[in-house]
Amino acid sequence: MSKPYVFMSRAVPEEAVHILKESFEVSIWEEDCPVTRERLLQEAKKADGLYVMMTDRIDRELLNQAPNLKGISNMAVGYDNIDVAAANEKGIIVTNTPGILSDTTADLTFGLLMDTARRLSEANRYLLEGKWEMWSPMMLAGQDIYGATIGIIGMGRIGEAVAKRATGFDMNILYHNRNRKPELEDKLGAVYRTLDDLLKESDFVVLLTPLTPETENLIGKREFKLMKSSAVFINVSRGATVDEEALYQALVNGEIWAAGLDVFRQEPIPMDHPLLTLDNVVAYPHIGSASIKTRRNMAILAAENLRDVILKGKSPNIVHVK
Ligand code: GLV
Repeated sequence: MSKPYVFMSRAVPEEAVHILKESFEVSIWEEDCPVTRERLLQEAKKADGLYVMMTDRIDRELLNQAPNLKGISNMAVGYDNIDVAAANEKGIIVTNTPGILSDTTADLTFGLLMDTARRLSEANRYLLEGKWEMWSPMMLAGQDIYGATIGIIGMGRIGEAVAKRATGFDMNILYHNRNRKPELEDKLGAVYRTLDDLLKESDFVVLLTPLTPETENLIGKREFKLMKSSAVFINVSRGATVDEEALYQALVNGEIWAAGLDVFRQEPIPMDHPLLTLDNVVAYPHIGSASIKTRRNMAILAAENLRDVILKGKSPNIVHVK
């Protein structure tokens, strides 16, 4: 009997490919860009398993043409690129890579927070552009981090890791989440707030929630108006959780002080996007989990997930519709 067939939509570290090649016939999209829709559809028609990235859209159209498909492994913790409900209706199991990227993503979140608050990228640009002609008392003065109030929206594993870092800066920690987390309240001194109260009280508003129908456009015009005019807004969730036009207006009108963004509604963000014209925006190209070790571990975990789903019909990292 021929081996099950797996398609990998991107070249990943060899250890991960090896795990799949041990049990399956594997083919890989080798180009250094996301797989074309056409090729993905073609592959879905014959694949038993798809190993995909968050840049690949796995929708009902694709799933309707995938008669052999048993598993879809997403090399990411977020899975808003996949129609999980449609997959589950067809008995196709979807997996993700939670846990192993939490600390790396929390490091980046904190780095972005510090960068935005203390204007680090702006200071670097200032120097490189030859603007440092003299020192002056308020030159590039930013917001203090130590002792400030951080409000974390979405207190999952990454939120907890961010809160842990915040304790080292003597920050007051507020959080908002679907469920209260009494154990974190005890362990980290985090205090639960309604969304509105968190927005009103926080110096740093950090958005970490997954993108779902409930969180789409969670932060918009009304929410920015509730924030302090000195607030720093950080988004490391998904771009679509924020109304970017409202964010732009809030920044231009001084309703908030600055924003640090690792995610955008359209990625890559177009270079003529209004947000990129503002000095009080720090923008990164979606690098939350991008450390060498973590990306390698994610690649391996995603391969193990797909292997286990195809061979055993199970995996510790199955995602379900919430
Ligand atoms: C990255 O954004 C991820 O979901 O892993």
